[in-house]
Amino acid sequence: MKIFSINTAVLATGFALVTVCPPLLAENNAEPVEPLALFAIMEEMGKNMQTITAAIASEDWETVEETSPLIADHPQPPLGEKIRILTFIGTDVSAFKGHDGQTHQAAQQLGQAAASKDGEAVIVAFADLQRSCLSCHQRFRKSFRTHFYGRQ
Ligand code: HEC
Repeated sequence: MKIFSINTAVLATGFALVTVCPPLLAENNAEPVEPLALFAIMEEMGKNMQTITAAIASEDWETVEETSPLIADHPQPPLGEKIRILTFIGTDVSAFKGHDGQTHQAAQQLGQAAASKDGEAVIVAFADLQRSCLSCHQRFRKSFRTHFYGRQ
């Protein structure tokens, strides 16, 4: 009888696990969502921005000049991913490209200001550059997350 009650307890626990676990298992076993190539490109841009911030602080204009083109001419995602992105953003494509164009232009101006060792102009261009990142993020980042990764 005692054994039976232990077994019952074990069974009950087992049953509880089985009934509780399916959603957890489903979540854990779910195909991991492959990050977009765009994500790695963005992370690289973030690192380059940090390099530039540090270089501005030490008035290392050469580093600012060398790093700016890495942002202005950042790599593009492979064609297949571009098509996925363009399909998703649909009619917002011109806004998306516009933000990217602003980033390109501001990074180019930053490089030029650094080449002429004009600290004030560097700071203005850097602020413009950050603004261009922010405006695209404010408009698109959340919807990308929801659409491509299914999370908030
Ligand atoms: C044309 C739009 C656009 C521009 C311009 C843009 N980004 Fe992004 N960025 C995105 C999108 C969309 C994501 C989300 C990508 C994802 O989650 O896969 C993102 C994500 C990021 C991330 C990842 C952060 C995180 O954990 O979600 C970093 C870092 C980043 N961007 C840096 C930058 C920097 C720095 C600039 C400017 C120099 C910039 N981005 C300009 C669209 C843009």
